[in-house]
Amino acid sequence: MGKSSRLFICCFVFAIFWLACDTQEKKEVHKKADYIRKIDGPSDSIPIEVARRGEVLIAYSDCYECHTKENRAKGPAFKDIAKRYPVNNGYISLLAQRVILGGSGAWGKSVMLPHPKIPQEEAETMVKFILSLKDSP
Ligand code: HEC
Repeated sequence: MGKSSRLFICCFVFAIFWLACDTQEKKEVHKKADYIRKIDGPSDSIPIEVARRGEVLIAYSDCYECHTKENRAKGPAFKDIAKRYPVNNGYISLLAQRVILGGSGAWGKSVMLPHPKIPQEEAETMVKFILSLKDSP
């Protein structure tokens, strides 16, 4: 085999790998979009002191047993929740209700247990912290 044909084979193999990786990556992006299912709409901004209060309330509750900010665990990542929902009073009170009553089916088959002891106002503050992660890098 000549030098040039060996070189050709090398390039060919490399190209195949490169193409395979590329389509794999696109599939990942697609899967992610299917999972997030972003809802379009204008978003209000959340005052930083409200978000901080929500963060503290969450830290003192059981949320981090199933959620993390960045990664999917038993429950969806807080950042993924923030990417799906626009920030407005309608979604804030809806999501607060889901925290209080529990939920399933919006992100898969896992179940979020109800939190009947959390008052609506506190649940809304928690949700505001979660949705405030929309803009963080
Ligand atoms: C037992 C595990 C568990 C705990 C504890 C938990 N969650 Fe969840 N959470 C989940 C799961 C699972 C989902 C996805 C439910 C679904 O697919 O509808 C979820 C979904 C959510 C959602 C999105 C709901 C929707 O309909 O999009 C919010 C907001 C949320 N959790 C906030 C909280 C907060 C705040 C706390 C703490 C008070 C908390 N979670 C505690 C498991 C948990």
